[in-house]
Amino acid sequence: MFRIIKKIFIKYRISKHAILGRNVIVFNTTRCYNDGEKRNIIVGNHCVLGCSLYARNGGKIRIGNNTYIGPNTSIQAKESIIIDDNVIVANNVIILDNNNHPVNPKMRLIMSSCKNYMSDNLWTWENAESKPVHICENVWIGRDARILKGVTIGKGSVIALGAIVTHNVPEYSIVAGNPAKIVKSNIRN
Ligand SMILES: CC(C)(COP(=O)(O)OP(=O)(O)OC[C@H]1O[C@@H](n2cnc3c(N)ncnc32)[C@H](O)[C@@H]1OP(=O)(O)O)[C@@H](O)C(=O)NCCC(=O)NCCS
Repeated sequence: MFRIIKKIFIKYRISKHAILGRNVIVFNTTRCYNDGEKRNIIVGNHCVLGCSLYARNGGKIRIGNNTYIGPNTSIQAKESIIIDDNVIVANNVIILDNNNHPVNPKMRLIMSSCKNYMSDNLWTWENAESKPVHICENVWIGRDARILKGVTIGKGSVIALGAIVTHNVPEYSIVAGNPAKIVKSNIRN
């Protein structure tokens, strides 16, 4: 009983910061942080979410229908992360469209010297470089994978366990390793 009430509470809390479609299931692990408009995070119908969603500095997250995203996975948008329909994202994955912190050392010094990191704007992702990420339909992202800024993963592809994806992945391919390389192509044949 307590667990059901907790889930209803978590879903209510998330729906204050995101637009959720029909029949979205959330886990106790699901979190949502959105410093912009509610419509900056839109989740489609029949999704299962165990992850944390971060939309900061006006970043947008779009999740299609029938998509599963496991617990302890973190999706962090400063610009745009689009995840299409029927995608599976395993546990402990990170999908980022930005560097989180500035690469420029002078900018980082300014950021790290600010006293109140909880409220100071310098600790936002404002000065971190960003590029949109797109995960196309029917992709499977294995556990512990990392998807970095600017990456498009073509439809039907598989990201192997632990892969660090720094470049686009063609459709119907398997990529693995760090940095991820194609290990199989045309997997629909
Ligand atoms: C990618 C995966 C699905 C295997 O697909 P497959 O078609 O059976 O591929 P294979 O096992 O034949 O491996 C193909 C090649 O990729 C390599 N490879 C496979 N997975 C790898 C990984 N995680 N890291 C590095 N290399 C990997 C294999 O060594 C092999 O290399 P080789 O051709 O030089 O021998 C599987 O390795 C995987 O990562 N599964 C993810 C499981 C997971 O995260 N589950 C969480 C719940 S959703």
